[in-house]
Amino acid sequence: MSQPTIDIEKIKNSSDGSISGMASSAFNEVILNNPYFAAGGGLMLLGTGLAVARQGIMKSSGFIYRQLLVDLEIPSKDKSYLWFLEWMSQYKNRSSRHLSVETNYIQHSNGSATTKFSLVPGPGKHLIRYKGAFMLVNRERSGKLLDMTSGTPFETVTLTTLYRDRKLFYEVLEEAKRMALKVREGKTVIYTSWGPEWRPFGQPRQKRLMGSVILDEGVDQMILNDVKDFLKSGGWYHNRGIPYRRGYLLYGPPGSGKTSFIQAIAGELDYNICLLNLSEKNMTDDRLNHLMNHIPDRSILLLEDIDAAFNKREQSDDQGYASGVTFSGLLNALDGVASAEECITFMTTNHPEKLDNALLRPGRVDFKVLINNASDYQVEKMFLKFYDNDMENCKKFLNKYKELGLKDVSTAQLQGLFVYNKRNPQGAIDMVENLKHPNNKF
Ligand SMILES: Nc1ncnc2c1ncn2[C@@H]1O[C@H](COP(=O)(O)OP(=O)(O)OP(=O)(O)O)[C@@H](O)[C@H]1O
Ligand SMILES: *[C@@H]1O[C@H](CO)[C@@H](O)[C@H](O)[C@H]1NC(C)=O
Ligand SMILES: *[C@@H]1O[C@H](CO)[C@@H](O)[C@H](O)[C@H]1NC(C)=O
Ligand SMILES: *[C@@H]1O[C@H](CO)[C@@H](O)[C@H](O)[C@H]1NC(C)=O
Ligand SMILES: *[C@@H]1O[C@H](CO)[C@@H](O)[C@H](O)[C@H]1NC(C)=O
Ligand SMILES: *[C@@H]1O[C@H](CO)[C@@H](O)[C@H](O)[C@H]1NC(C)=O
Ligand SMILES: [Mg+2]
Repeated sequence: MSQPTIDIEKIKNSSDGSISGMASSAFNEVILNNPYFAAGGGLMLLGTGLAVARQGIMKSSGFIYRQLLVDLEIPSKDKSYLWFLEWMSQYKNRSSRHLSVETNYIQHSNGSATTKFSLVPGPGKHLIRYKGAFMLVNRERSGKLLDMTSGTPFETVTLTTLYRDRKLFYEVLEEAKRMALKVREGKTVIYTSWGPEWRPFGQPRQKRLMGSVILDEGVDQMILNDVKDFLKSGGWYHNRGIPYRRGYLLYGPPGSGKTSFIQAIAGELDYNICLLNLSEKNMTDDRLNHLMNHIPDRSILLLEDIDAAFNKREQSDDQGYASGVTFSGLLNALDGVASAEECITFMTTNHPEKLDNALLRPGRVDFKVLINNASDYQVEKMFLKFYDNDMENCKKFLNKYKELGLKDVSTAQLQGLFVYNKRNPQGAIDMVENLKHPNNKF
């Protein structure tokens, strides 16, 4: 190979004599016709090309990933989180090697215990096949962050699937929700306050049927119709700028069925009950306000024995501790419920005369109903309900009841008598006298 030289003559010849022409010819000569330089440049170009191509592949794979795959992130704060884990633990078409256990341990009062394990997908990656589509489920603990309210680490579950299958996310979540709610179907969940939040209290209870609570003629329908009408009138309230809430006060002697009736309403409407104890020692105005503004969906707020809360306060002051809720705190909390959702508040009391007028004004209490001692109508209905429409004995029972001039009998007392004489209407008739004394034990 000859020594590469820069041939000045050639440059001169091939150029048209101008400076720019000379420069371009010089470039050709130096770069392209020089084998060493050409070889190095080729390598360099190749290297650059490869690097660009690799970057391109990476970029385009990211692009393809972004175009073809979709993620769904479910944080542990979300309601669907537990539903999804529960659903996945029951789902058959999955391959997971990381499981974690959730133990349901119930100690019965007789000393025995039942234990149920359910294996839920643990942290890590799992593959499921849902309606023909593959989904990658990744459950991750996010660092050392703790959820302060429950003391559990923050977690997320990420679902990944093909873009075209993204609709299945909704189906998965719907299915998980349906499965979770089915357990609660026909049940009423009672929430109580726990620090600043609402927690389910015990297991969901069987719904109380409307027909099982016998109020005076027409009273139950009157209240129920009012509640139903209220629930239908969201638009009406919003259009007029009125806060969408309604307060009910049920007052009357003990054992007349106030609490039972509220449970029955909750069952009828398929609502849950949030039970707030105003006399609880730790309750403060702030907590009360926070709780009232964070009521779970589809819940009735129930304030029992509303008169007791403030009488207690005076007593407890000289015992050294005080129920933190002040009367004005309660009024403000009732007023301040600033939620777009409907808010139904039920209050009960045995002593309506002790209640302050400020509490009873419309907007706080819109609907007051006396639930009184048993009327003749209620006595008859109760008897027929307990003894399977035994008309004959019912007449005898009512005659004796009236002969004795009984009044001021509570429905709870009647229930006590009938429960004592289960399947024995004659026994109930013989024992009517016992109703004269309210504190009689059967
Ligand atoms: N009208 C009624 N119909 C059917 N059962 C009733 C009725 N009233 C009371 N009972 C029965 O009596 C018991 C006590 O009723 P409940 O707790 O509802 O009374 P209350 O009015 O809330 O009393 P208190 O004012 O003391 O809280 C329940 O077991 C309930 O089944
Ligand atoms: C599980 O996957 C198989 C195919 O691998 C399919 O035939 C079957 O229907 C799936 N089962 C469910 C419950 O999706
Ligand atoms: C204890 O009570 C539970 C239900 O309440 C029952 O299933 C169990 O058999 C009882 N055990 C004994 C030893 O009685
Ligand atoms: C409410 O709290 C007070 C004080 O802690 C307690 O005495 C009372 O029984 C509670 N009432 C209810 C209905 O739980
Ligand atoms: C009241 O608060 C204290 C701490 O401030 C706590 O230990 C206690 O369990 C609380 N009691 C109730 C009934 O919430
Ligand atoms: C209801 O009955 C009780 C006794 O059982 C009585 O003391 C009370 O006055 C009665 N209430 C009404 C409103 O009649
Ligand atoms: Mg009650």
